[in-house]
Amino acid sequence: MTDFKIEKIQARWVLDSRGNPTVECDLIADKRLERAIVPSGASTGELEALELRDGGDKFLGKHVSKAVSNVNDKIVKSLIGMDVREQNLIDKKMLELDGTDNKSNLGANAILSVSLAVAKLAARLKNEPLFSHLHQISYEKKNEDYLLPIPCCNILNGGEHAGNELAIQEFMILPIGADSFSTAIRYASEVYHILKGILSKKYGKSAINVGDEGGFAPNLSNSREALDVIIEAIEERGFTPGKEFILAMDAAASEFYENGKYLIDGNQLNEAELLEYYLDLIKEYPLKSIEDPFDEKDFGAFSELTNKVDNSIQIVDDDITVTNINILQKAINLEAGNALLLKVNQIGSLSEAINAAKMAFKNDFNVMVSHRSGETEDTFIADLAVGLCSGQIKSGAPCRSDRCAKYNQILRIEELLGENAKYPSDFKSWKKFV
Ligand code: PGA
Ligand code: ZN
Repeated sequence: MTDFKIEKIQARWVLDSRGNPTVECDLIADKRLERAIVPSGASTGELEALELRDGGDKFLGKHVSKAVSNVNDKIVKSLIGMDVREQNLIDKKMLELDGTDNKSNLGANAILSVSLAVAKLAARLKNEPLFSHLHQISYEKKNEDYLLPIPCCNILNGGEHAGNELAIQEFMILPIGADSFSTAIRYASEVYHILKGILSKKYGKSAINVGDEGGFAPNLSNSREALDVIIEAIEERGFTPGKEFILAMDAAASEFYENGKYLIDGNQLNEAELLEYYLDLIKEYPLKSIEDPFDEKDFGAFSELTNKVDNSIQIVDDDITVTNINILQKAINLEAGNALLLKVNQIGSLSEAINAAKMAFKNDFNVMVSHRSGETEDTFIADLAVGLCSGQIKSGAPCRSDRCAKYNQILRIEELLGENAKYPSDFKSWKKFV
């Protein structure tokens, strides 16, 4: 008989992909151990759950020893003996123990490390793949077929993630015309490497240095120049832009919003001008998804753009909604955006993140499961994207192990599922699965 009761919880600090400390948590039941590591953002939304850092001198203020102690001294006491299959109850217990709206007492990083490890250990003890366990706790049903996600590969980095002048943070290629996930990620890798050659030839070797998410960070300052070079790479590989590949951007516009103006491409645009700018890009390029197009407080501008584009275009809410159901509800009511970016550490517990995804789907919003710019070897979000059948994941470029780990995990899942692995033909494919 398997014993599902939590026997031991042990957190520690480890390094993330930027070399900053983050929380890792081990969980033991029935002599099995599972562990989870928490990611960390750079262009964070103001209303994200609080990532608890020590301040002071160690790691230049970024140490997480308080969050680690909160797991080892406080959380552990209230969770020992609980059944790991009770994800909601366990998360609820931690939220009560924290007692704040934004998890500022224990730290979202402390709580999430345990929350993710709980799901992994439950799956392990049930002898079930993590994605399938996540599917069951999300939808209370078991599926034969699963929707694998379109990999939204960020192959050109700007904004806070790169040392260049590009205002737009992420330029992504989406291999929408592939017939499977493995073909999709191969297509993306091929275009990535062609792009490397083009950038090197055009701008010199320093143009192929990479940013935080593994995409190239050439010293460009104009978004159209970035989009043009990506289109060139897609075509040089023999693909047709708009057919095998569509494009997506994460503007992360709060980061280039200053004193009521958006500083982009050497211009200072007001909200109406920026909106026209996006509409022009949509006309000129097969650009089908724009994330955080305006400052995170400007629900009105999100709403205006959402209503101006046809419904094949995604307007993705990240910093504006921060995976928080209360804020997401506001965005839904105002029609500010039509897709949710789902980041587990923005809200700080798995059950709350799942609830956000479910609320999004219920209201006809798409869901893109997302990594953070500071990542680790943990592949949790790969299983989450498959378990939710979200149909989209963004995990950076097909380069750097912190990014590829997630894509690689989906390759394994695809192999395991065989015929039961389905690949999306559009953003709305989740409708048949959720
Ligand atoms: P972040 O970037 O992890 O630095 O917030 C990712 C994003 O904005 O989507
Ligand atoms: Zn974003």
